Amino acid sequence: MAITMTMGIQKGGCGKSTTTGILAYLLKENGYRVLAIDMDSQGNLTELLSEQPSNEFMGKSILEAIQENDAKKYIVPVTENLDLLPANNFLATLPRWIYTGKTYQGEAVPFKGNPSMILDKLLDQVREEYDFIVLDTPPSLSEQTTNALVASDYVVVMYECSNWCYSAIPNFMDSVNGAKELGNRNTQVIGILRTMNDVRRSDAKAFNEIIAEDYPDLVFATVITRKAPVGRLALYGFTDNAELKQALDQYKNFYEELIQRVQSQ
Ligand SMILES: Nc1ncnc2c1ncn2[C@@H]1O[C@H](COP(=O)(O)OP(=O)(O)OP(=O)(O)O)[C@@H](O)[C@H]1O
Ligand SMILES: [Mg+2]
Repeated sequence: MAITMTMGIQKGGCGKSTTTGILAYLLKENGYRVLAIDMDSQGNLTELLSEQPSNEFMGKSILEAIQENDAKKYIVPVTENLDLLPANNFLATLPRWIYTGKTYQGEAVPFKGNPSMILDKLLDQVREEYDFIVLDTPPSLSEQTTNALVASDYVVVMYECSNWCYSAIPNFMDSVNGAKELGNRNTQVIGILRTMNDVRRSDAKAFNEIIAEDYPDLVFATVITRKAPVGRLALYGFTDNAELKQALDQYKNFYEELIQRVQSQ
């Protein structure tokens, strides 16, 4: 039965998509069967893993999987042991469909059920086929985010060491608690990952330390720093990337910590 994990924070540009992609890659490299799900209409995880524009997946995405209640039809194989449920711009119309029954193509496909539990129910169709399901979420609270949280056993909170990210943390913790109460998976924060840390800035250093004081049991010891090869993953991807080793280097420590925490639960 797959363990389901969401990377999230209600703040933009904190490394959610990058981390989800790298985590999916490292899990499959370690022999796990992985399904990566893009719940963000920006389609960044989709582009990172598929190395194609997210518009290529118009009509063939997680949105249609949800609307037709058919996950398997829309799963895209990426490489051995790694599959993707892609997203594109139209995922932004998910709430409209939930509340009006209208799809982006103007068809009426009425939605019945609990708006926050759609994804969790959909994933029942595929849980047996994977060891891990990892989900990327958008930067704001939405049905896309709520569904990912409710469908998840664990949440990794992405913390880019800055003031606005710091102030986003309590709201996001509330969202995770809400998902735990709403859903059936006992959704819990497995850790806070400090990302994109700019080692030259004293304010980043301060916010890095404050979060460790606030949540000593939750922060991962690994701190991901800003490094060009990590940023350029968005450009070069995983398959033909001469600096892949440098891009993955610091994330391997995070991976070890995360697996250890999951296994000791
Ligand atoms: N450790 C890093 N060092 C340098 N650049 C990074 C690092 N992590 C991510 N980036 C770059 O920073 C930008 C934001 O990262 P990413 O898209 O993963 O964040 P996000 O939280 O998913 O953003 P959004 O909220 O828009 O979905 C991207 O251009 C990415 O390539
Ligand atoms: Mg993103």
